[in-house]
Amino acid sequence: MRVTTSLLLLLALAGPAAAGPLDMQGAPQALVCSACHGFAGQSRSNTMPILAGIAPWYFKKAIQDYAAGKRPSPEMEPYAKMVLQLGVDDVAAYFAAQARTPSPVVLEPAAVERGRAAAVQCTLCHGVSGKGDPSKGVPDLTGQPPGYLRNQMLLFKADRRSPGDEHLKALKTLMRTIPDEQIADLAAYWSSVR
Ligand code: HEC
Ligand code: HEC
Repeated sequence: MRVTTSLLLLLALAGPAAAGPLDMQGAPQALVCSACHGFAGQSRSNTMPILAGIAPWYFKKAIQDYAAGKRPSPEMEPYAKMVLQLGVDDVAAYFAAQARTPSPVVLEPAAVERGRAAAVQCTLCHGVSGKGDPSKGVPDLTGQPPGYLRNQMLLFKADRRSPGDEHLKALKTLMRTIPDEQIADLAAYWSSVR
């Protein structure tokens, strides 16, 4: 498999780890993710999620869902399968240990303000802080790129992320009540929260 070959090459190139983000178990396996998610998971793009600081339980769930095709993504499925093969715990621990630098994507202040008013609906599950609740399986939204948050909300709305998942019924029912313009405002708001 091509992915595995290039990974082995990266493992070889990584060699003895230098100090810093590479000086940790899981770091060599995570290098291949940098192409899309940024070095050490600090995505600077509007569409690629930040992995730095991601909770290990949520990271593992996402990887398992992608690998099983439950959360359909042609981009992620091969990498998710690879992570499961290499050992998801080390890679999860590596990204969790990176301090999250919030997305640098510039937000329109008026959109953030409109989003703030609508965001009350989210706090029941994501909390007032937006940092989520592991006991309910709810992830942290804060500081993620607005384009990524918006895309995922639209996928929920269209039942294209984890289609038919009973646990996500309430979330999807809520998304269907929110107009697309307001979804963009909500994405801007949660991206702005620190
Ligand atoms: C070719 C680009 C690409 C590469 C390389 C890549 N990813 Fe992704 N990743 C994506 C895209 C695109 C998404 C969003 C997919 C979606 O719509 O769910 C994503 C989403 C994710 C998510 C979900 C984040 C969340 O907040 O739900 C995780 C976790 C993840 N990737 C981990 C990894 C890991 C670990 C690696 C390296 C082993 C990796 N990715 C390599 C493109 C990539
Ligand atoms: C009924 C509980 C509930 C409510 C209310 C809710 N969410 Fe969520 N949300 C979840 C759960 C659970 C997940 C994790 C889905 C998964 O495991 O794939 C999630 C995931 C997300 C994600 C994907 C994050 C990522 O990293 O990929 C976004 C974006 C999101 N929610 C936005 C919102 C917004 C904005 C609101 C308010 C308008 C909201 N949610 C309200 C339960 C909820």
